[in-house]
Amino acid sequence: MNSRERLVNAFSDQAPDRPPVWIMRQAGRYLPEYRALKEKYDFVTMVKTPDLATEVTLQPLRRFKQLDAAIIFSDILIVPEAMGLPYSFREKGGIQMAGEIRSQADVDKLDSTGVADRTAYISDAIRQVRGELGNSKAVLGFGGSPWTLATYMIEGGSSKEYTNARYMFNNERPLFDSLMNKLSDGLIDLFKSQIDAGVDAIQIFDSWAAAAPDGQYWDCSLKWIQKIIEALGDSTPIILFTKGMSAHHEDLIRTGARALAADQSVNLAEWKKELPQGITLQGNLNPDLMPGEPEVAAAATKQLLDSMSPWSRYIFNLGHGITPQARIETMQAVLETIDSVK
Ligand code: CP3
Repeated sequence: MNSRERLVNAFSDQAPDRPPVWIMRQAGRYLPEYRALKEKYDFVTMVKTPDLATEVTLQPLRRFKQLDAAIIFSDILIVPEAMGLPYSFREKGGIQMAGEIRSQADVDKLDSTGVADRTAYISDAIRQVRGELGNSKAVLGFGGSPWTLATYMIEGGSSKEYTNARYMFNNERPLFDSLMNKLSDGLIDLFKSQIDAGVDAIQIFDSWAAAAPDGQYWDCSLKWIQKIIEALGDSTPIILFTKGMSAHHEDLIRTGARALAADQSVNLAEWKKELPQGITLQGNLNPDLMPGEPEVAAAATKQLLDSMSPWSRYIFNLGHGITPQARIETMQAVLETIDSVK
């Protein structure tokens, strides 16, 4: 069974020889080869240049043979940018948007048509990565959820409180809905172009799900994800990543997502018992282990694998993105542990 088959099989009942594995932010600052490219090119240039995006996408797969899937190097913020609101990085960390969306006039200025054309660099990179990997590895596309993107756009960048985003949802619903409609249309366009370019699955990141007002997660976020998944049809599986939302599993499933990705706060084996059988689970080793000792991370990996056995409909991943402090030998130990159960 090759890597691509292993990943694609995880959306069926067939048991694999071992769980497929990919890592969020596998292209990241913990890799010296990524940092070397970053010395020469800034992040946005790398994202927008298919040759560079292809190279960064492939770097972790060259280093770690056990990885089963390449997640295309890009960012969720290419969609606001393609709609007219660019992003940059704050010196002390975090995202700065080039403005704030607070009024109907601000929303009206956003252009949700032609998003796929203005982000053609991502489908070009996907085709190039597929050309390099052939059928040996899976290729994954991704994007942010409308709500997670809206938090950046309404707040004007990274935020700790999300007060303005929640204010708009609670008090200016027609305005909020018009922004979410436009974001959903732009995302549908982006995801269709990723599917046309040949991805094996798409992950939607609702990273800031927990910022939604209490009891309003469906109206604030999930119903827009459902709209997107419906528009895409079911040719390509959608993996839905959320943080802090495991109690909402019925609503998560109602979106039509074929797989649910859990953060590290979830007991995945317990969750599996509560969920219907046709749902694939992904996760959820604690990324805090990655800067630590290889033996500690390997033991936690073994425990997670044992708890999820037998491994049909399971994809191994971290509970959130890998950080710059991650140790290469710890990553290696985790991947070798997964491979050793074959
Ligand atoms: O996993 C992968 O390597 C695929 C590429 C990928 C990136 N970002 C590249 C990236 C993916 C899937 C993302 C998703 C993303 N981007 C999310 C959702 C996932 C999550 O973490 O919850 C979010 C919220 C963003 C927005 C974003 N981009 C943030 C918050 C940051 C970090 C900013 C900071 O100051 O640390 C980024 C930058 C970013 N995106 C990096 C990478 C590899 C680091 C860039 C660098 O400093 O070299």
